[in-house]
Amino acid sequence: MTDTEDFLTATRAFYDTVAEDYAEHFRDPLGDRPLERGLLGVFAELVGPAGTVADLGCGPGAVTAYLGSLGLDAFGVDLSASMLGVARRENPALRFEQGSMLDLDIADGSLGGVVSWYSSIHTPTGELPSLFAEFRRVLAPGGHLLLAFQAGGEPRRLDRPWGHPVTLDFLRRRPEQMAELLTAAGFTLGSRTVREPDGRLSESVGQAFLFARKPGDGAGADA
Ligand SMILES: C[S@@+](CC[C@H](N)C(=O)[O-])C[C@H]1O[C@@H](n2cnc3c(N)ncnc32)[C@H](O)[C@@H]1O
Repeated sequence: MTDTEDFLTATRAFYDTVAEDYAEHFRDPLGDRPLERGLLGVFAELVGPAGTVADLGCGPGAVTAYLGSLGLDAFGVDLSASMLGVARRENPALRFEQGSMLDLDIADGSLGGVVSWYSSIHTPTGELPSLFAEFRRVLAPGGHLLLAFQAGGEPRRLDRPWGHPVTLDFLRRRPEQMAELLTAAGFTLGSRTVREPDGRLSESVGQAFLFARKPGDGAGADA
């Protein structure tokens, strides 16, 4: 098995095991998060109503649904069949597909926007250039990327979550490091936002949100 297959297998197994508990714990992840809703609103405005948007690593689909409620043609992709089962049950009107965001079954240049909302946090740093190249491949010229992740240096290992016999590392990253990697992958950085941890839902580090754009002839503004 290659290193890539190793971490994909471990990530899929983890989320297949915890999907129902995860969905219950993060039942309304945007409900008391006005900053996050605002950033997703900015993203929707940048993409515009004509653009199709992929929520990559969508988990239970709450962000996909929020993007849909903002008028976007949004669909979700996730590695984990159990996470997708929850997403489809909770959001029967939306489209969810199984796959890896490192190797998407999506045509070149076909999306107006890509959201990766806490889904790059299990991708080893050495694989991030390939991940960002794949995001860039599927975006149309001028298309927008919104990347959310925990800020910081040290990974957090989650061992036996909700009593399940699984373990996974949650990688935290410096926003400057992610910005450099996005630039190296051919994106133009639009903005970076870091909010302080608020202690809710076991949150102990800052939360980072980067807007980036694939250069090209697409109309519209940068974040
Ligand atoms: C922390 S959860 C976040 C889920 C959702 N975005 C949210 O904010 O609730 C991470 C999700 O990313 C998915 N994921 C991680 N790596 C992935 C990959 N390479 N391709 C597709 N999904 C991936 C996991 O299966 C999991 O559902």
